[in-house]
Amino acid sequence: TAPLRLGIAGLGTVGVGVVKIVRSHKALLTARTGREIVITAVGARDQGKDRGVNLNGYAWESDPVALARRDDIDVFVELMGGSDGPALEATRAALDTGKDVVTANKAMLALHGQALAEQAEDAGRAIRFEAAVAGGIPVIKALTEGLAGNEITRVMGVMNGTCNYILTRMESAGLPYDAVFQEASDLGYLEADPTLDVGGIDAGHKLALLSAIAFGTRPDFDGVDLEGIQRIAIDDIRQAADMGFRIKLLGVARRTGRGLEQRMQPCLVPADSPLGQLEGGTNMVVVEGDAVEQIVLRGPGAGQGPTASAVMGDICDLARGIRVPTFGRPAHTLEAAPAALSGLP
Ligand code: NAP
Ligand code: HSE
Repeated sequence: TAPLRLGIAGLGTVGVGVVKIVRSHKALLTARTGREIVITAVGARDQGKDRGVNLNGYAWESDPVALARRDDIDVFVELMGGSDGPALEATRAALDTGKDVVTANKAMLALHGQALAEQAEDAGRAIRFEAAVAGGIPVIKALTEGLAGNEITRVMGVMNGTCNYILTRMESAGLPYDAVFQEASDLGYLEADPTLDVGGIDAGHKLALLSAIAFGTRPDFDGVDLEGIQRIAIDDIRQAADMGFRIKLLGVARRTGRGLEQRMQPCLVPADSPLGQLEGGTNMVVVEGDAVEQIVLRGPGAGQGPTASAVMGDICDLARGIRVPTFGRPAHTLEAAPAALSGLP
């Protein structure tokens, strides 16, 4: 079998993590997928930057669209970020020229995922994004494969590690929000635009993707009832603790008689529950289905290794020829049945 050839756009935290795994696990990946996985071309903005990884032998392409269009790649791996602009343009170009796409870009997918999924479907290609939701936790694979026999009734979880770090640190150190926000900033935890984290937007993007997959709807970010953690005071945390609760930025998506409800808000959760015991930057996703009842998935939601691990899971599936759909056109989803679900055309 011919090797699976990757073009990687973006060599930051995640992109470098993917390069490291492809280089270090060459034989393992071939044994697992039955196909050699090779990097053909890479690109970022600054070709001169030392990225701490050997890039010799890979073609360099600073223009992501040109990289996506190259005819010596099979999979375009988008790891630049940004909801629009180069990431979106290059993703469209890749699908347009017959490539599969793997991305970790939740912001782009929450806003344009439906259109991209339809473009992929039309082209007979796949767009995969395990890393976009809850980092290293393979929750999309769990929903689309292991739990495929269930009607999902509820998904919920803590999906932004930075907010969970801030809330748990306020609690453990007794520090006010502003002080811990500054600490998180100094540690480099915050997104370039911190409002994405503390405003609940990043977590809302992830919830919109997760509920689209779980309930067979289109991703509906505008339908997420969103509130961040900026107004949580240390007294709120203390009072919650006095009553046996902790405050978490919790996402919940569930079917109701009125349709799909999506909330991403600070919530009180019992301190002795799995969600209540979640510390620091860890993520947790709870999935409830009619047959399985409840499963709890816990793990690192960010960072080089965990996020690259999820990207590689998608790449390995493509190497095996697996293109399980996530969301797509109504005919491929549950949209026709529960007509009351919100966000339907
Ligand atoms: P990052 O460290 O900021 O790296 C971004 C990379 O993209 C850099 O190499 C940058 O080039 C390159 N880039 C940006 N704009 C470009 C352009 N217009 N043309 C060419 N290259 C461009 O970002 P990251 O943390 O790796 O995140 C990548 C993606 O993964 C994002 O969508 C993010 O939301 C998602 N994600 C990240 C994590 C995480 O833990 N970091 C977790 C889950 C999902 P230069 O290096 O030359 O500046
Ligand atoms: N800013 C995100 C978080 C990164 O803190 O969870 C991973 O998506």
